[in-house]
Amino acid sequence: MELIFEKSAPGRIGVSLPPTFEPNAEPSHWLPPNMVRQEPAPLPELNEPEVVRHFTRLSQRNFSIDTHFYPLGSCTMKYNPRLTENAARLDGFAWLHPLQDPEDAQGILALMARLEDWLSALCGMDAFTLNPAAGAQGEFCGMSIIQAAHVHREGKPRPYVLIPESAHGTNPASAALSGMIVKTIRALPDGTTDIEDLKKHLDHRVAGMMMTNPNTVGVFESRIVEIAELVHAVGGLMYYDGANLNAIAGLARPGDMGFDVVHVNLHKTFSTPHGGGGPGSGPVGVKSHLEPYLPIPRLVRHEDGSLSLTEDRPLSIGRLSAFQGNVGVAVRAFAYILLHGLEGIRRNSQLAVLNANYLRTRLRDHFTVPFPQYCAHEFVISLADLARETGVKAGDVAKRLLDYGFHAPTVYFPLIVPECLLIEPTETESRATLDAFANALIAIKGEARTDPEKVKGAPWTLPVSRLDEYRAATQMDVSYFG
Ligand SMILES: Cc1ncc(COP(=O)(O)O)c(C=O)c1O
Repeated sequence: MELIFEKSAPGRIGVSLPPTFEPNAEPSHWLPPNMVRQEPAPLPELNEPEVVRHFTRLSQRNFSIDTHFYPLGSCTMKYNPRLTENAARLDGFAWLHPLQDPEDAQGILALMARLEDWLSALCGMDAFTLNPAAGAQGEFCGMSIIQAAHVHREGKPRPYVLIPESAHGTNPASAALSGMIVKTIRALPDGTTDIEDLKKHLDHRVAGMMMTNPNTVGVFESRIVEIAELVHAVGGLMYYDGANLNAIAGLARPGDMGFDVVHVNLHKTFSTPHGGGGPGSGPVGVKSHLEPYLPIPRLVRHEDGSLSLTEDRPLSIGRLSAFQGNVGVAVRAFAYILLHGLEGIRRNSQLAVLNANYLRTRLRDHFTVPFPQYCAHEFVISLADLARETGVKAGDVAKRLLDYGFHAPTVYFPLIVPECLLIEPTETESRATLDAFANALIAIKGEARTDPEKVKGAPWTLPVSRLDEYRAATQMDVSYFG
């Protein structure tokens, strides 16, 4: 496909602007002379339909949840009902200015207050903030709250945080950003946390433990209550990474498992198309003893039912983001919860788990499934044997899947499984789609044996074939004019 610059023809234009009559409108009248362009900008010249067609075609070449099955493990790429999009686009929300006087913005504040309450109820927490703009920022917020509580109660910070070796990379990164030193806890062969290893690390220097449940290999940590009791016994606090809430929402609550702090990825479990960097929202919930440390501004609920915002919170960890975070994502989540109700949310979780177990069962006779037990909303397969036998690696299979019309699952994560694919088929996928995906993976395994170069050179059918990843990383040049 041609670049838009290659389609350009001199003099071709989309709109004719009237000539400028305002004598001072020329940039040379109001910009410093050294900043005025001497030559016209080298922009492409096309008419309007050409521009529209170019970008429409480009968008059609994308892999997206609206066009392809997208089983990206840990990322929960779920179908987003159009209704939630419509809600976020309602004029009253979309045109609201963040500096609007709270007195004139009671509607959005009421929505936020209700969403905080619903998230508290779903997670078994006592209070929520909607401020963090992503899961990782929620983790930073939560770990800062944990440390603020230790400093307030004990007069000094606690240096260590415990994190299972299967954890998502943002967990140790957020803990380090909050000034803590990470200690890694081993996993057992069944994928769950090794409690004996945990015990070796527990003492009064431990600020807390970060976990997700089900964990990143898709296995439910059945001894979670025992783990929480052990951490609490040394004064540590439990942090729940809610990125995997899609498996348990409406069925189990982190608060009941012993967690003190939780973040929820609204953009995974509660609608909002995400990927490519945003937009996201990672609200943080806490048990009541940690409520004073939540970030500002906080919503204040008055007796007459009105709402306002306050920054007068002496123990707060401070401000995390401009204004109230990504409120549009909160509107989508609100609409999503309203649309499904508790019963619907519970059913979505059950279907997500059912879909993952169906696929796992379809694939287990063909691939190594390192944790063969009943899984939650995602599961891992390892291609280490196939790589040894054929030279075809997980990354090659992922690229070849694109030729079959599927977005690849997450590859090479979690780190504890060699040559792995982490597969998460969300609740809205039909059995026919799951079967087609399983058949594609099985077919690619056959190709790896009979024609490995076909898999190693994939993709063959996309506009861009395989990149030289080394050069792309070290000599990147994305400018058209060099
Ligand atoms: C397990 C887990 N934790 C945390 C995150 C971070 O969330 P975000 O991408 O919104 O920062 C992710 C993201 O994929 C995740 O999978």
